[in-house]
Amino acid sequence: MDMFCVEGGHVLHGTVRINGSKNASLPILAAALAIEGEVTLEQVPQLQDVATMRQLLQSIGAVVELLDDGNIRVDARHVRSSVAPYELVRQMRASVCVLGPLLARFGTARVSLPGGCNIGHRPIDLHLRGLAALGADIRLEAGYIVAECSRLRGADLDLCGPHGPTVTGTCNVIIAASLAQGRSIIRSAAKEPEVQDFARFLNAAGARISGAGTSIVEIEGVDQLHDVRHTVIPDRIEAATLAIAAAITYGDVIIRNAPTTHMTCVLNALNLIGIPIDATHDTLHIRASSMQRPARLTAEPYPGLPTDCQAQFMALLSTIAGESQITDTVFPERFMHAAELVRMGADIRIQSNSAVIHGVARLSAASVMASDLRASAALVLAALAAEGHTEIRRVYHLDRGYHAFEQKLNQLGAKIQRTNDGSQNIVPRPHSGPISLSISRQA
Ligand code: EPZ
Repeated sequence: MDMFCVEGGHVLHGTVRINGSKNASLPILAAALAIEGEVTLEQVPQLQDVATMRQLLQSIGAVVELLDDGNIRVDARHVRSSVAPYELVRQMRASVCVLGPLLARFGTARVSLPGGCNIGHRPIDLHLRGLAALGADIRLEAGYIVAECSRLRGADLDLCGPHGPTVTGTCNVIIAASLAQGRSIIRSAAKEPEVQDFARFLNAAGARISGAGTSIVEIEGVDQLHDVRHTVIPDRIEAATLAIAAAITYGDVIIRNAPTTHMTCVLNALNLIGIPIDATHDTLHIRASSMQRPARLTAEPYPGLPTDCQAQFMALLSTIAGESQITDTVFPERFMHAAELVRMGADIRIQSNSAVIHGVARLSAASVMASDLRASAALVLAALAAEGHTEIRRVYHLDRGYHAFEQKLNQLGAKIQRTNDGSQNIVPRPHSGPISLSISRQA
């Protein structure tokens, strides 16, 4: 399995460009299954998760082409299957995004229930509740969700859950409602930029969606969606990760193609910590000084601070003298990275859904293990600031969501080597939490 060897202590400087968004691309690619035409997507990042989604679409019978210009073309006109197999779904939870499109297009879908996840308990009850509200019959059969409905009907439904709205759940219900009969109102919808981009994509394919980006999305169902060409938004989480990399090394970095209007909360948090940033509509210039301050941050649904940046901020705050605190209201257990940072000399205590951090003068190199995508990014950032050579294992997690991450950092002056740790390339399955499923169709 691949691992990184990171030589700490190098100040980052220079310019780097952001790729398209993973979390916008995945539901959009899945939605192509519901489109009876050709879908051409620009700025889709070359990531392991995108490759898994392409494989899933091909296994269902869609024609997926990687074009010379890096764009992707999907043609699902001749798809006949509506089954998403366990072998692919277990590799990537976002595979559940094919549920809505398949049900909407074929009136039936059989999708393996996603297993557990290292970032916490992740049920899909809200997805199923929304689809049932549109008239679907849903049951669990041999580890598969089986959803059926001759024709979905518009409905007024609420998608609020114990930790707020659901991002991919909102996408699944939006696409289903877009091909349902009549009008739907989705209350407590997720407002993330990825949901807004999803709606923009579907409207360009002939859907009639309004209110995306607010908590109330209204949809007038249509009979069919048509050919569409769409450019996926840049990745705000990749931009935030590179901005924090600049800050943790006291660097001077320009980040191009950064979706700054989607990053207000991230930029406010960096300002709060004392990191001067110049921002234009698509560029960030970080000139980090040593005058950094501790801070109290809370990860919340958009437009709040993204939970997908929580680990990276924890790495940064671990290096700033004084007491800081990070609370995660979206994934209250998302602290697997804390123990690995403590191995590097950080002082972090977890108290329910918060981490209390006392900054240390300098982190020290160690052998650490990545547990999930953002945790692995945080360990790389900590290693950049640490004294000595850090070994980070299981970087396959990183490849799921960052394209050429080490090349980009090395381009900015980091010293990161990707090597093989000599162990078998067996991708361990994440631990599996309890799953509840009993959905009755609403009259
Ligand atoms: C999306 O996951 C992202 N993934 C995640 O990014 C991100 O962390 C998350 O949104 C929150 O911003 C993709 O877009 C592919 P949720 P999603 O449904 O949609 C609970 C990364 O690092 N919930 O919005 O799966 C859930 O347990 C990944 O790129 C229910 O209770 O997240 C969580 O506590 C990791 N029932 C909260 O809601 C449901 O049916 C938000 O989850 C669904 C969710």
